[in-house]
Amino acid sequence: MKFFKKLIPFLCVLLLLPGALNACSIQKKDTIKTIRIGVSVYRKDDTFIASLSSYLEEDAKKREQHTGDKIILNIMDSQSSQSLQNDQVDGFLSKNYDAVCVNMVDRTAAATIVDKAKKADTPLIFFNREPVEEDIQMWGKAYYVGADAAQSGTLQGQIIARAYKKDPRSIDRNGDGKIQYVMLEGEQGHQDSLLRTEYSVKAVEESGVHTEMLANDTANWQRAQATAKMKQWITRYGGRIEAVLCNNDDMALGAIDAIRESGWRASRPVVVGVDGTAPGLDAIKNGTMLGSAYNNAKTQAEVIFGLCCDPAGTSKSFPLQRGHFIYIPYQMITRENAGKFG
Ligand code: BGC
Ligand code: CA
Repeated sequence: MKFFKKLIPFLCVLLLLPGALNACSIQKKDTIKTIRIGVSVYRKDDTFIASLSSYLEEDAKKREQHTGDKIILNIMDSQSSQSLQNDQVDGFLSKNYDAVCVNMVDRTAAATIVDKAKKADTPLIFFNREPVEEDIQMWGKAYYVGADAAQSGTLQGQIIARAYKKDPRSIDRNGDGKIQYVMLEGEQGHQDSLLRTEYSVKAVEESGVHTEMLANDTANWQRAQATAKMKQWITRYGGRIEAVLCNNDDMALGAIDAIRESGWRASRPVVVGVDGTAPGLDAIKNGTMLGSAYNNAKTQAEVIFGLCCDPAGTSKSFPLQRGHFIYIPYQMITRENAGKFG
């Protein structure tokens, strides 16, 4: 009997042990969060969007390493189809994703998506293609993360104006006191196409330098389309073109391809872009592109990812404007500082 009494505490421990182990494993399960994020991009093969997407993937990996949370990041390609994009968003919402991020195919079609996300009580983060304010205002957990398009245009204009002031004849080859330019625009209806086109020329003019537009057309953000367009303009205007203003770096690189292919070396026009993509930065460093405006994909991705994980916790460095909008500033890139961007 005495021996039995001594055994009682051990028996109790043995009896309690499975429960204790169970509690422990439940506790462990509870602390590992799984966050499911659905992203739909207008085109995966867009250079800037591809770079922003890979930063999102990096952010997800970093968070997994630092917190032990499991992040499921599902990035889908809408292939320029708004109806395909709507289906992708429906899919994310029906599977109860924790957050949905949308890079609109048609930025005027956001209301339907906002409405669906609101009904599902799911945070919704638009990026890069800015919906109109009244659509975003419909849902308290709807945000837009992007950049101030007008600022990028202004920086492009300032790059040209500075180069002109330093050495007018390096741009105004015919010495008529005006810069004859051609403009390669992004997709029509995109806020960046409209505002960069307007503000780049405005900034040149505001610096006191006159301009004359020879031609403008869209090349839909794409390098090959820009090459084709630029070839036509070279045939038509030849050496009269003194500057090529491009709404993004890919089109600037396309214009440079056309200039190179035409064998035009002496008195080449200056070319400016926007983005500061890796090939864009190389062109600035080797002097074929005069400059660009840095479109900070890395910080935009960090802010988007932060909102997905914590929709209420917006960053102090980039405060919300009008309750829903976050704009990451552009920076001027020229040959002197290109190294610092990558
Ligand atoms: C970028 C372009 C890109 C476009 C896609 C713009 O902000 O500058 O390079 O093609 O967004 O929406
Ligand atoms: Ca001139």
